[in-house]
Amino acid sequence: MTTFWSWYITLLTLGSLLALLWLLFATRKGQQSGPTEQTLGHSFDGIEEYDNPLPRWWFMLFLGTLIFAAGYLLLYPGLGNYAGKLPGYEGGWTQVKQWQREVDKANREYAPIYAGYAKLPVEQVAQDERALKMGGRLFASNCSVCHGSDAKGAYGFPNLTDKEWRWGGSPETIKQTIIGGRSGMMPAQAQMIGEEGVHNVAAYVLTELAGRKLPAGETADISAGQKIFASTCFACHGADGKGTPSMGAPNLTNPSAFIYGSSFAQLQQTIRYGRTGHMPAQLPYVGSEDKVHLLTAYVYSLSQQQEQAVAQD
Ligand code: HEC
Ligand code: HEC
Repeated sequence: MTTFWSWYITLLTLGSLLALLWLLFATRKGQQSGPTEQTLGHSFDGIEEYDNPLPRWWFMLFLGTLIFAAGYLLLYPGLGNYAGKLPGYEGGWTQVKQWQREVDKANREYAPIYAGYAKLPVEQVAQDERALKMGGRLFASNCSVCHGSDAKGAYGFPNLTDKEWRWGGSPETIKQTIIGGRSGMMPAQAQMIGEEGVHNVAAYVLTELAGRKLPAGETADISAGQKIFASTCFACHGADGKGTPSMGAPNLTNPSAFIYGSSFAQLQQTIRYGRTGHMPAQLPYVGSEDKVHLLTAYVYSLSQQQEQAVAQD
């Protein structure tokens, strides 16, 4: 802020405080210490106002707030460009510096714990209750915005609790996904195969691969769709439609794991215009590879739990 506005604020603030101090003492003058019979001469429907002194505690409280204000303005930034002299904050206190101090403190405290877990294999960390709690908190603050707080995903964001993986569910692959992010690239097909081709191949995917029925009233040439699949789509999704993890091409035989919807209309949309799902690299946000290791264990445990639950059923 310019010097003018800095002084403007400083003088206005200090001036107000001094004026209040003056008011407090000026109006106190000449008051006797005991109660009085003297009135101020005001009368409201017969109710009169005595001219008693301020109660001592009230006066002290008022004085206290002024002293607090003086202390606060000395330590914290409040007077124009003056940054404050709070010990431990070079160049003045700011919220960001305070946050950074807290983060640094937490890092110092937790780094050895993270480092301890980082030495263990993911499978073993995924059995450790405390590690999973910590991983869960990291997940909540870094990943839940996209994958949901229950990690079950949403439209455009994959479910991480099932056994279906677009890129792979081994500890190494999950870790690689988190560190470097992922970009799924499904090119638009409309130009290549034409609108009728889109219609037919979508019908093939829906009925033959995904095992669902065409909506009532729809017809399609499924065998023409199959031919298109075998000549175009198989390169990425595989001849059996089960996907190719190395390019993030999903399994098309499990419609419950489709992230762009499994209705006939949505399938055509996907095939016509293509899809480019993008997960940004998370290492810069998460902060350290040791934390990523914990996150990997957490994500890995989610689908393992489900497997155990299924095994128990
Ligand atoms: C160059 C490789 C490639 C080709 C060719 C390709 N796909 Fe894909 N497809 C992908 C990738 C990668 C994704 C995942 C996109 C994403 O994650 O955003 C995908 C996604 C899909 C989805 C969405 C699945 C979901 O999770 O909702 C469908 C449906 C699909 N493809 C069908 C087809 C069909 C049918 C064809 C042939 C006409 C085809 N794809 C051709 C790579 C390809
Ligand atoms: C900005 C949104 C976003 C954030 C934040 C995000 N992800 Fe993702 N994630 C995605 C998208 C989108 C995909 C699918 C990419 C594709 O189309 O192939 C994905 C894919 C994945 C996959 C691969 C799933 C599979 O089936 O192979 C894993 C594992 C994963 N994310 C874990 C995480 C973890 C752990 C975090 C937190 C550190 C995280 N993600 C943060 C959007 C996000």
